[in-house]
Amino acid sequence: MCVGIATLDIINRVQAYPAEDTEVRALAQSQRLGGNAANTAVVLAQLGAQASWVGNLAQPAEIIERGFAHYGVDASLAVRIAGAAVPTSYILLSEATGSRSIVHYRDLPEYRAEDFLALDLSSFDWVHFEGRAVDQLGPMLEHARDLSGLTVSLEVEKPREGIQALFEQADLLLFSRDYAMAQGFVDAMGLLRSLPQGVVASCTWGAQGAWAIGHDGRVLHSAPPPLDSVVDTLGAGDVFNAALIHALGRGRTMEQALPEAVGLASSQCTREGLELDGA
Ligand code: FRU
Repeated sequence: MCVGIATLDIINRVQAYPAEDTEVRALAQSQRLGGNAANTAVVLAQLGAQASWVGNLAQPAEIIERGFAHYGVDASLAVRIAGAAVPTSYILLSEATGSRSIVHYRDLPEYRAEDFLALDLSSFDWVHFEGRAVDQLGPMLEHARDLSGLTVSLEVEKPREGIQALFEQADLLLFSRDYAMAQGFVDAMGLLRSLPQGVVASCTWGAQGAWAIGHDGRVLHSAPPPLDSVVDTLGAGDVFNAALIHALGRGRTMEQALPEAVGLASSQCTREGLELDGA
C-alpha cells in the first residue's frame, strides 16, 4: 500500500528550459497520473506486486482514475472528495537535458490519520508513506508497524517541520538529494552517516545514482550505467523507491536491492513516462 498524493501532471515537452519573460512553443503535451506515492504504486504493480494507493482524491479525476485502472493499482480505499480541485503539476520537460521543472498547485486537504486508522490492513504486508503532514503520519506509522506488524517505509523528499521525529518509526527511510542538501549535507554519505545506528536508509543523488546504509552501518553506493540519452527524469525517484521496496520485500539484501533500484530508475530516464520496458 502506498499512502500519499495523486496528481494530474500536465507535461509540456520543450526544446530547452525557457528564459523568464519569453514565449516558447511546446513540442508535445501530455496529461497523466502523477504524485510520488501514486507513481510508486504504478511501478510496483508493473513489477508484479499487488499495489494499492491510498490518499485523498479530488473528484472528478478521470485521468487519475484511468491511470490507476490501466496499471491495475487498487485505489478503492482512497477518500474521494467531491467537487474539490485536483492537485495539478505544470511540468516543463527539457529535450536538451531531460530535466523536469515542476510548478505544483494544490488546494486539497491532507489525508487524515483517522481515515487511515479505519482501514483493515490485514491483507497488506508493506505500507509505504510519502513524508507529508507529519502530525497525521505519526499515528499512521504506529498503526501500520507497531499495531499491525507490517513493514513500513517512509519517503523523505522534502524538509517538513518535525519529520525527523518519524524516522525511528520506519523500517526503511528513502531520502532525496533535495532533503539532504536542505539539511546542509553535501553528499548522501554525510546524511546516511548522521542517522542513528541501525537505521536502514537510502539517498538518491541524480546522475550519481544512490547510496544506502544497512543494519550493519555499512554505506553502499551504486552508480547508474552510462545512458545513451536522458529523455524523462520525471518520477525517477518514485521508480527508485518502488524498485528498492520491491527487491527488499522479496528478501533481497541491500547489496542486491540497491543496484536493481538504481538500474531501473536510470533506464526509466531513457523513456518517456512510467511504463516499464517490457511491462
Ligand atoms: C514526480 C511527481 C510528479 C508530481 C510531483 C508532485 O516525482 O510525483 O508526478 O506532479 O512529483 O510533487
